[in-house]
Amino acid sequence: MYEPESSAPALDFQQHVIDEFRANAGVVGGPFQGSALLLLTTVGARTRHRHTIPLGYLDIDGTRVVVASAGGADRNPAWLHNLRAHPVVTVEVGSETYPAITSILAGAERDRRWAEVVRRQPGYGDYQQRTARVIPLVEVRPLPSRAGLDRVRGLGDFMREVHGWLSAELDGVLAQVDTLIATSDTTTPVALPPRTLHAQMRERCITFCGALERHHMGEDFGAFPAVAQAFPALARTLDQLRAEHVVVAEINSSIRNLLADYEPGVGDPRELRAELHLLITRLREHFAFEELAILDALNAAADAPPAPALKPTPREGN
Ligand SMILES: [Fe+2]
Ligand SMILES: [Fe+2]
Repeated sequence: MYEPESSAPALDFQQHVIDEFRANAGVVGGPFQGSALLLLTTVGARTRHRHTIPLGYLDIDGTRVVVASAGGADRNPAWLHNLRAHPVVTVEVGSETYPAITSILAGAERDRRWAEVVRRQPGYGDYQQRTARVIPLVEVRPLPSRAGLDRVRGLGDFMREVHGWLSAELDGVLAQVDTLIATSDTTTPVALPPRTLHAQMRERCITFCGALERHHMGEDFGAFPAVAQAFPALARTLDQLRAEHVVVAEINSSIRNLLADYEPGVGDPRELRAELHLLITRLREHFAFEELAILDALNAAADAPPAPALKPTPREGN
């Protein structure tokens, strides 16, 4: 039975347990000798970063269960809060790592499993005695794996490829602004006049903005409904992502407007770069969060569409 705490010494100890777990294929000594321990990696509800915690687990009726006892404290542990927001997690057991989806058990289902938890590990019953809150139980179900499907890419893999292409295009735009800055700093003749360079940037931006709009249409009306049907627990995460798409559309048109309004030889390319960089950072944050929160569930829900792979525009001739 192991339930981490959140004080600084407890976090240090927790990290020590994680390191030992990973160095010894899941075997941890000391007080955990012989304990059934797993590492649960959640996506922070607020931070959106990965957080890993060691937890004791029980396999009951073929299902893996972890206990949000927090040592009998009156508040639920932070990791439970993360799971409520984003139920897709990564689990490490022994030397195996797999994606999983969690659900917080309720009602008779929770009570039935709880009785079994306490029967096997009475210490959890002691924790329950210390607090008025009903200690939640969380079921951790592996997401269907694509292993053995023989090179069939999943919808999540496809999403990551598109994000990679979009990200490379954004790098391309920034590289073009860098060239614009370099040309504005020199009096010697340059290979590409600023006006031509600016026209190329706008062209690239039109391609990029259109591709991003199509990508989000595909997510809002194709990928998200597919994953929501397969995993209803993801409704809250998907609502959040849909809301972000509205913001992303605004960022997209801001990028387009910035480039349209820029006057080569008049506007300051450094200012243009700073503003573009800010917008591009926010776009990348959306891509990263989407991959953390739903990529594994998308892979489990559907195959990638048989669309040709997108290729970044070559940098030569920027
Ligand atoms: Fe998206
Ligand atoms: Fe996306």
